[in-house]
Amino acid sequence: MISVVNVHKRFGSQVVLDGVSLEIEKGKTTTIVGPSGVGKSVLLKLIMGILNPEKGEVFVCGENITKAETEHERNLIRRHLGVLFQSAALFDSLTVYDNVLFPLVERGEIKCREEMHRMVEEMLYSLSLEDHALSYPEEISIGMRKRVGMARALVTKPDILLFDEPNTGLDPLVGQEVYDLIAESKEKWGFTGVVISHELPEVFQVSDTVVMLLRGNIVMQGSPEDFINTDNAEVQQFLYGRTDGPIRIQ
Ligand SMILES: Nc1ncnc2c1ncn2[C@@H]1O[C@H](COP(=O)(O)OP(=O)(O)OP(=O)(O)O)[C@@H](O)[C@H]1O
Ligand SMILES: [Mg+2]
Repeated sequence: MISVVNVHKRFGSQVVLDGVSLEIEKGKTTTIVGPSGVGKSVLLKLIMGILNPEKGEVFVCGENITKAETEHERNLIRRHLGVLFQSAALFDSLTVYDNVLFPLVERGEIKCREEMHRMVEEMLYSLSLEDHALSYPEEISIGMRKRVGMARALVTKPDILLFDEPNTGLDPLVGQEVYDLIAESKEKWGFTGVVISHELPEVFQVSDTVVMLLRGNIVMQGSPEDFINTDNAEVQQFLYGRTDGPIRIQ
């Protein structure tokens, strides 16, 4: 579904990704973990074609987003992707309804107003947001705002949903609500998920495959069980949040 092939990315003299290759399987949720600053968000931006690697390529649903030459070409490939960032980044001046409508209007693919209305309504019902359609983001809870972010990401029916730290900074209860929301939405819409997180082991509940980045490359890839049972000292250190271990805390 997504192929990352030998990707190198640096900023000035700082090497962030040093030949990363990764296959993200269709219909599964792959979680990318690793210490702060290791390059998780950079990898996500390479997948979205927001950044370009010095070397290597990224294919999204078989299409080469790295080699796409124009923003128009990249936008066509990006139609496979929905994105949910940490802040949920809703428009404060728009109602819940208009926030969810926004991506449909922006794409301009659907000309019929009734058709768009039907799609937004369906999304609001599916995510139990119908009573909040006319509320503004500041009038609803953080958990509800996440739901709106999810509705907005899903309304265009993307094949792949990318989450960059979907619940960092939330209290544990709302954090759990977000995992439930991911699981519930995955069940309903069957997208391929890519989740970036350093919430271990909590994020394992929504992960089929876990990929850990360290020093510019993948140090381990496997199921949540593989991670829990590993005797790799670096992985264990990260998993259990110990400061005494092979990973240097910067
Ligand atoms: N546009 C940029 N220009 C220069 N340096 C950048 C840029 N984007 C990222 N970096 C650097 O690349 C490194 C990796 O950043 P990235 O945002 O991917 O980290 P991360 O793994 O997502 O960390 P966190 O868990 O804190 O979000 C960092 O050292 C960051 O400062
Ligand atoms: Mg990040």
